[in-house]
Amino acid sequence: MTKLSVNINKVATIRNARGGNVPDLLKVAVDCQSFGAEGITVHPRPDERHVRYKDVIELSPLVTTEFNIEGYPSPSFVELVKNVKPTQVTLVPDAPDAITSSAGWDTIKYDAFLRELIEDFQSAGIRVSIFIDTNIDNILNAAKTGADRIELYTEPYAEAFAADKEAAIRPFVEAAKAAKAAGLGVNAGHDLNLDNLKFFHDNIPWLKEVSIGHALISDALYYGLEKTIRLYKECLE
Ligand code: PXP
Repeated sequence: MTKLSVNINKVATIRNARGGNVPDLLKVAVDCQSFGAEGITVHPRPDERHVRYKDVIELSPLVTTEFNIEGYPSPSFVELVKNVKPTQVTLVPDAPDAITSSAGWDTIKYDAFLRELIEDFQSAGIRVSIFIDTNIDNILNAAKTGADRIELYTEPYAEAFAADKEAAIRPFVEAAKAAKAAGLGVNAGHDLNLDNLKFFHDNIPWLKEVSIGHALISDALYYGLEKTIRLYKECLE
C-alpha cells in the first residue's frame, strides 16, 4: 500500500500572508488525517516563510499518522528533528532561499556528510529518506550511505507527462527498480497531481509513500479537502 502524506506547507503560506492563525495549520493537519491521509509532511525552511519551527513542535503530538519532516540538514534543522523525533526525516539539498526543492542529492560527493547524519538520525529512532533524482549511481550510493529510503524527485516526470507519459515514466521505473534491488524503500514527491499520480503509481506499485502539497491544496479549493484527499487516495489504489 502506498501512503499519501499531505504536505501542509502551502496552508502555512496562506496563514502567514495575514499574520494571524487563519487557516489553522494544526486543525488542517488533524482534519487531513481524519479524511484519510496516512501522513503529514512539513518542510520548515530557515526563513520560516511557510511552516515555522514552532509549528513543527506543536504538530508533533497531533500527528498520529506518519510525520515526515523534510529539509536541508542545517544544524538548527537537525536539532529540531532530533527533538521532535518524527517517523521520518527527508533530507533535501536545497539552498535556504530556494522557492522549492529543485534537485536531488549528489550522494557520491556528499557521501561522508550524509553517512554521519543518517547514523545520527537513525540512532535517535528516526527513519531517513534522501531526496534524489533518477541517476542510478546516486541511488546505489544512497544505499551505501545507510539511508532507509529515497524520495524520487518527480518534477521531471510531471513536466514531461503531458507530451509522452511512457517516456516520462521510464527513468523513474528504472530508478525505482534499482533502489528496490539495493534494499531501499521508495518514496516520491514534487508536482504530483490528479492527472499524473495514478500512472506513476501503476508503474511503480511498490512505492511506499508520496508526499503532495501544491496541487493537493490547490485542488481542495475546488473539491474541498475531504473529497480531494479521497481523490488522491483513489489514484493510489
Ligand atoms: N518533496 C520535497 C522534498 C519537496 O520539497 C516538496 C515541496 O515542498 C514536495 C515533495 C512536494 O511537492 P509539491 O508541493 O509540488 O507537491
